[in-house]
Amino acid sequence: MSITRPPLPVPSVPISALAIVALAAAALAVSGCKSMPGYPKPGPEIPRPDAVLDFPTLYKESCSGCHGENGLNGAALALNNPAYLAVAGPDNLRKVTANGVPSTLMPPFARSAGGMLTDQQVDAIVQGMLKTWGRPADFASVALPPYAATAPGNPEAGQKVFLAACARCHGDDGAGLHSTSPGHPANPDTGHGSIVNPSFLALVSDQGIRSFVLAGHANQHIPDWRGYLTGPGAHPLSPQEISDVVAWVAGHRQTAVAPAAGSQSASTSTASKLHSPTPHSPAKEKP
Ligand code: HEC
Ligand code: HEC
Repeated sequence: MSITRPPLPVPSVPISALAIVALAAAALAVSGCKSMPGYPKPGPEIPRPDAVLDFPTLYKESCSGCHGENGLNGAALALNNPAYLAVAGPDNLRKVTANGVPSTLMPPFARSAGGMLTDQQVDAIVQGMLKTWGRPADFASVALPPYAATAPGNPEAGQKVFLAACARCHGDDGAGLHSTSPGHPANPDTGHGSIVNPSFLALVSDQGIRSFVLAGHANQHIPDWRGYLTGPGAHPLSPQEISDVVAWVAGHRQTAVAPAAGSQSASTSTASKLHSPTPHSPAKEKP
């Protein structure tokens, strides 16, 4: 499996950084165990690894470290989510599982892409996710937004969507709600860390952000894209609103682009270190 990249230096920021550390550790665990001396060789009692087509076994061995046991509560997106599965559909699931997501911690699994699973095993995982966790009947009469953006989003329009749909939990600027923020909800758990900081954005793809929005926030009682807006005039986020709000969040990545050599400033050094081939100097994030 080609997920043996070294752990990335992660600045000390809330939640997102913890998730990244957890993912990196899981990546090492997944890649490390099969190459350890003493890892059981295929024998009469143990089926050859590529003969395994049982979804729970395949999922547990290859995916649960990052996406959580039974597809829930992992550091990466919960895949045990009927709305997400309905929107993504078999083709997108197969493509991502086979080829991974470049520049993120999602590794490729198909042998053709450098992974360890046969095409049959990739299929078994995709069909297993849809059969075990999908509920297509619930979405038969729902207008599903497109999985991928069909046109570029408009970040300015997206800021308005963010203020209406997201700011109550992520803060007006996306940097998180703190107990000192005006209007901090009584329940402190409703607040969340920054979703615009460079260390989060450097490791998540635009589709990754979009998928979080499509899939909803089950822990926050937001089932999917239909549940963000509340009160009078509430409606499901439209495909355009989804693209716009993703463009606004992703737009903060610009501040994380590594500058030309010699012009490195304190605020951009984190991002360039994240992309450095020798990630051993501890990166320090400014608050
Ligand atoms: C080392 C951690 C890791 C492992 C192991 C892993 N994933 Fe992922 N996966 C991620 C991350 C991180 C993302 C988000 C990538 C992004 O930003 O787009 C992701 C994204 C995905 C997505 C796409 C979500 C979307 O945006 O539509 C699917 C589907 C997926 N993974 C399935 C799997 C399956 C199936 C397995 C096991 C065969 C697996 N993953 C194993 C970390 C992992
Ligand atoms: C009711 C509160 C609430 C609302 C509204 C909300 N979020 Fe979140 N969001 C959270 C919490 C809490 C988390 C972390 C835990 C989770 O996934 O439920 C989170 C996680 C995320 C993440 C993943 C960050 C990470 O560190 O992995 C993204 C991206 C995100 N939200 C974007 C949005 C966007 C965009 C909107 C508006 C369309 C939105 N959220 C609306 C509470 C909320």
